[in-house]
Amino acid sequence: PSNDGERVTPVIGLIGGSGLYDIDGLADKEWRTVETPWGKPSDQLLFGRLGDVQCVFLPRHGRGHPTPPSRLNYRANIAALKQSGVTDVISLSAVGSLKEELPPGHFVIIDQFIDRSFAREKSFFDDGLVAHVSMADPLCPRIGDVLEQQARALGLPVSRGGTYLVMEGPQFSTRAESNLYRSWGCDVIGMTNMPEAKLAREAELCYATVAMVTDYDCWRLEEEHVTVDAVVAVMMNNAEKARNLVKAVIPVLGQERGLCPAGCDRALSNALITSPAS
Ligand code: ADE
Repeated sequence: PSNDGERVTPVIGLIGGSGLYDIDGLADKEWRTVETPWGKPSDQLLFGRLGDVQCVFLPRHGRGHPTPPSRLNYRANIAALKQSGVTDVISLSAVGSLKEELPPGHFVIIDQFIDRSFAREKSFFDDGLVAHVSMADPLCPRIGDVLEQQARALGLPVSRGGTYLVMEGPQFSTRAESNLYRSWGCDVIGMTNMPEAKLAREAELCYATVAMVTDYDCWRLEEEHVTVDAVVAVMMNNAEKARNLVKAVIPVLGQERGLCPAGCDRALSNALITSPAS
């Protein structure tokens, strides 16, 4: 990143979920192939600028949605953003709702996760170099503040704070699972934000999620249980709102600033446990 002492010129990374494949108003656009030591990301990355702010966009599932959640190369996706100079990541993700008061069309700026994914590579660290980063507060509150302010200014239906349960998929949950997650106090459910958020933290990237509700999952008896058709219909509408939110947020987030007050950009400072001599 362009860290000049304590000053940072942010580069904004966007990870677009299902239905989001571009940034409105992006100038000097160029799709570029980025290789990483962890292999290929989901697709080429779209480089460009919005005003003076450098942006890098990655469609999480690839253009045309060819890759399922369990097969995504999360390490390559995060590494590709890091290698591209990104400092601040906004993850845009379609989710199901586990709460009555979060209807389809609602946006939740997440502040916690429960990670129930299991068939994914979850760390950049491995034999030979061990690190344990803190995930107590897994999302960057600085980016969350900007997302909340701008969403409210646009009049979008938005909540600040919420727990996102990450399931493995690709099948949706059984009703018993959905009710279990509700009993745990979870707010929304999705398939992709872990290990993305863990890897972003290991890569010392500030990372925030806008979870866009597409359905009530299957717990709500008076509602049809979730289907792909229902999800896609709401997603298109959500994507339009998300594009407006992104356009409003980038000029604010892109201002030159100091280091992140939450310390996401220094997450490894106290995390390495392997002795340098070994
Ligand atoms: N993504 C969108 N809706 C979902 C649901 N109900 N469960 C898991 N992932 C989702």
